[in-house]
Amino acid sequence: MNNSLEKIVNLCKRRGFVFPSSDMYGGFESCYDYGFLGTLLGNNIKQSWWKNMTQYRDDIVGIDASILMSPRVWEASGHLTAGFSDALVECKKCHHRFRKDYLKENKCPDCGGELTKEKKFNLMMKTFIGPIENDVATTFLRGETCQGIYMNYRAMKDAMRLKIPFGIAQIGKAFRNEITPRYFIFKTREFEQMEMQYFVSPNKTEKKKWFEYWKKERQNWYSNLGLKKENLRFREHSSKELAHYAQRAVDIEYKFPWGWDEIEGIHDRGDWDLSNHSKHSGQDLTYIDTETKKKFIPHIIETSAGVARSFLAFMVDAYTEIEGGRTTTTESNKEKETVLRLHHNLAPVKIAVLPLSKKDSLKKITKEIYHNLRKYWIVQYDEASSIGRRYRRQDEIGTPYCLTVDFDSIEDKKVTVRDRDTMKQERINISDLINFFREKLE
Ligand code: GAP
Repeated sequence: MNNSLEKIVNLCKRRGFVFPSSDMYGGFESCYDYGFLGTLLGNNIKQSWWKNMTQYRDDIVGIDASILMSPRVWEASGHLTAGFSDALVECKKCHHRFRKDYLKENKCPDCGGELTKEKKFNLMMKTFIGPIENDVATTFLRGETCQGIYMNYRAMKDAMRLKIPFGIAQIGKAFRNEITPRYFIFKTREFEQMEMQYFVSPNKTEKKKWFEYWKKERQNWYSNLGLKKENLRFREHSSKELAHYAQRAVDIEYKFPWGWDEIEGIHDRGDWDLSNHSKHSGQDLTYIDTETKKKFIPHIIETSAGVARSFLAFMVDAYTEIEGGRTTTTESNKEKETVLRLHHNLAPVKIAVLPLSKKDSLKKITKEIYHNLRKYWIVQYDEASSIGRRYRRQDEIGTPYCLTVDFDSIEDKKVTVRDRDTMKQERINISDLINFFREKLE
């Protein structure tokens, strides 16, 4: 495993961000569980996306559709045919299986054995509804969340009186029977997507305008949350690479430890989805423009992001090691320090509240401050070990502020607030803390 990816994986496990699933049984098929800090980080990513896509906009609404849908959805969408398949080859000697397009040579990368001819392997995950496992009971765990949006397009348009251009957003789990899951949480068989489908007129100029608009919007979302601009780029798909539904596709790529790779796709899906669902279901999905009286099947510009891929990109970008440590005013330190410079909105814990000593008189006032602050933010109380060690523990999980209560605090009713990145310390009145942090964190 790449060295710096290994460091992130270790930090994730050691500090309770991400654990291998079913670890007691040796793990399971590249599945992962999120611990408390990982869940908080994931929730912050999703909340930021949701606010940007729905709360701050007049033209987008959100939904939460069922993971299980009629298998007819997947027939109509083209996911059960070659379009949603990868080319699979198997080693005749060790029987390991690989995606053909990932291999540089025609020999098994694990044992050098001869490979079989490629065959198409469908990525949809099969399951059965009810007690009888037969063809009639077969359905699929959704392979992309957006199909749930198309199922609700007409009902949402009517119920919410939506006028083109408008969008429907959704966050939820998707499943793909990937042949080669890899790079920790980057490519797994169960993952979460944050997808928005923007319904526009089929007019070419109009479509191009929205495509460019959404490219920029989505790139800005990542850089506004702290991803360094030099680590982000767009990559246009060649016509050969295009997914079965896409007329045009641009990936937003991040420079991961193993190289540039996709974190989000912006797709022009044309009228592929709505036309096919209309044809297969017999339902009329035409849109009537009330001003021009024109009738058409809307075209779709899609933004499709992965929660785990954003998570990993934010972690990689924020991870900093300082050999020999940073000079602190409280303690000399020669150890290597790790600072996770996560954006304030993403940091799992916002404030750590630390009494300088475990003496009862200090603990009482510190606990009062802690209980007051945690009404508003995720706050951690920590009294174990030296103040320098406690700072470093918080730096490592990306906590933007540490608040220290010392013996002077009892007299002057002030505490010391330390900034994670600058290590600047300020004395703040206890009565001003809520306003102080509101300004800093919101
Ligand atoms: N609805 C369009 C769609 O699903 P995609 O390019 O296949 O498009 C979109 O996937 C995003 O979903 C990707 O950019 C990635 O962030 C995430 N994603 C896809 N497959 C994934 C997997 N196996 N593991 C983790 N994330 C995945």
